Amino acid sequence: MNKFIAPSILAADFGNLQKDVEMINNSEADWFHIDVMDGVFVPNISFGMPVIKAIKKHAKKTFDVHLMIVNPDKFISDFKNAGADILTVHYEACTHLHRTVQAIKAQGMKAGVSINPHTPVAVLEDIISDIDLVLIMSVNPGFGGQSFIENTFKKVQQLKTLIEKSASKAIIEVDGGVTDKNITQLSKAGVSAFVAGSFIFKSKNPTQTIKQLKTLATS
Ligand code: DX5
Ligand code: ZN
Repeated sequence: MNKFIAPSILAADFGNLQKDVEMINNSEADWFHIDVMDGVFVPNISFGMPVIKAIKKHAKKTFDVHLMIVNPDKFISDFKNAGADILTVHYEACTHLHRTVQAIKAQGMKAGVSINPHTPVAVLEDIISDIDLVLIMSVNPGFGGQSFIENTFKKVQQLKTLIEKSASKAIIEVDGGVTDKNITQLSKAGVSAFVAGSFIFKSKNPTQTIKQLKTLATS
């Protein structure tokens, strides 16, 4: 099974974004993880369309966009135009999730659904066959640099069972508090994509840290 490392731009140097984008381009990272926060769904605001388009101009890898916003339906074509390859919405933010997922796919993007730490995996039962990716939040969304919630391991296990039972092609992504201490265990449990922000960007040598995470995820 392929393993994908997705550095989170949220932890990059916003005063010198191009440098960090080039670092990711030239590293063993697989995706760019782009966190969009609206100050309503989560208690923080990150960045919007102009910044995403500026990143996209230089980025040479898959654009994995994680929407922590209410009413994502309003912006699906805007995110397509900004360069999203994967567009992930929150289960908790979508009243008509099936419609949202179909709209994302109709725009030619892969559709992801994310669940907060308190949201049980079982709520995905009737959408799992329609989606390409499930993003399990392993911290409460809104901020980088928080500690990994251990209950995530149980949720990964439950999700793996649900995916197998429903013959879904969805892959599992984990976001928040991913480090060298938990990535191997997550990978063995069935996680394919790993978002890491502060562990990469706060390290002395981010390129080397990405390589280390990739090695640990595939070991
Ligand atoms: C949290 C974001 C994450 C965050 C991860 O709301 O969705 O992508 O950037 O950051 P770390 O790896 O620092 O927990
Ligand atoms: Zn994220």
